[in-house]
Amino acid sequence: MTGKVAVVTGATSGIGARIARLFVGEGAQVVLAGRREAEGMRVAAELGDAATFRRADVSAEEDVRALVEYATERHGRLDVMVSNAGGPGHWVDVADVDLAAFREVMDVHLYGVLLGMKYAARVMVPQGSGSIINMASVSGTEAGWSGLDYSAAKAAIIHLTRCAAVELGESGVRVNSIAPSVVLTGIFGKGAGLDPAVADRTADQLAGAFPLMMGDYQAVRRPVSAEDVAQTALWLAGDAAGIVTGVNLAVDGGVGAGRPVSVSRAERVRLATALGSRG
Ligand SMILES: NC(=O)c1ccc[n+]([C@@H]2O[C@H](COP(=O)([O-])OP(=O)(O)OC[C@H]3O[C@@H](n4cnc5c(N)ncnc54)[C@H](OP(=O)(O)O)[C@@H]3O)[C@@H](O)[C@H]2O)c1
Repeated sequence: MTGKVAVVTGATSGIGARIARLFVGEGAQVVLAGRREAEGMRVAAELGDAATFRRADVSAEEDVRALVEYATERHGRLDVMVSNAGGPGHWVDVADVDLAAFREVMDVHLYGVLLGMKYAARVMVPQGSGSIINMASVSGTEAGWSGLDYSAAKAAIIHLTRCAAVELGESGVRVNSIAPSVVLTGIFGKGAGLDPAVADRTADQLAGAFPLMMGDYQAVRRPVSAEDVAQTALWLAGDAAGIVTGVNLAVDGGVGAGRPVSVSRAERVRLATALGSRG
C-alpha cells in the first residue's frame, strides 16, 4: 500500500476503523470518514500523520463529493475507495414496513455505496487505475440474517458492484464487495437502541452470544474479526488482486457454503432415534 491513497467510510468504529488502521500500517495515506467528529478525530489521531478524518454522511451527495475532493486535493490521487459505512436495519414484518425507515437504510447503505463509486470513478477513470471495495454482508445473499431493508440493500450492493465492475474494468478500475457474517462490533448494540459510543465500547461483550447466534450455521466456529475483513480489503485493494473484479468475497466462516456437517450429523442421529423409538 506504500504510496497509495485510500478513503474509508464508516471508519469511526468497528470494521472501518480496523481497515484504516491496517492500510496505514501497510504504508497508505488514509482519509477516514463518518458522521461522529470526535470519534473520527480520535481514531485518525491514533493512526498518526498518514491518517486524517473528514466528517461525511454518506447518504448526502454533497458530503461524498466533498470527501473525495478533500482526499484527492490533499494527496493528489485516489487509489482505493472503501465504502463501508452502514447502520443496522429494522426487523419488521412485510405487512408492517415503514417506507421512510426502509428508505433511510437504503440511503445509507445502497446510495452511500453508489455515491462512493460515482465520485471515486471520476478520479480513478482518468487516472487509469483504482480499487473500489463495497461492504456487503451475508445478508445480501441469504435471507433471514437481518431486517428486510438491510438485506435488500446489501443484495443491491452486490449487484451494483458487478454493474460498476463491468463498466469500469475497461478503465483499469476494479470493483468488488466483501460479505462478512457476524463481526462483533457496535452495530448490534446500535440496532438494539444503545447509545453509539456505549455500543462500540461494549461490543466485545457479545462474544458469549456468538455460539447462540451462529452455532448451527458457521463451519469455522469463531466470530469473523474486523481484522479478517480488513485483511480481505487489503488484498482486494492491492496489486495482488489486480485481475479480480466484480466479485463478492464471502468472509463468513462457511455460512454461505451450507450447513456444518456436524449439525446435519446430529440431526440424522435425532431422526434415527425418533424412527427407532417408533419401531
Ligand atoms: N458487524 C457485522 O456483523 C457486519 C456483518 C456484515 C456486514 N457488516 C457491515 O460492515 C459495515 C461496518 O459495520 P460495523 O459492523 O463495523 O459497525 P459499526 O462499528 O457500527 O460501524 C459503522 C460505521 O458506519 C458509520 N456510519 C453509519 N451511518 C453513516 C452515515 N450515514 N454516513 C457515514 N458514516 C456512517 C459509523 O460512523 P458514524 O456513526 O460516526 O457515522 C461507523 O463508523 C456496515 O456496512 C455493516 O453493514 C457488518
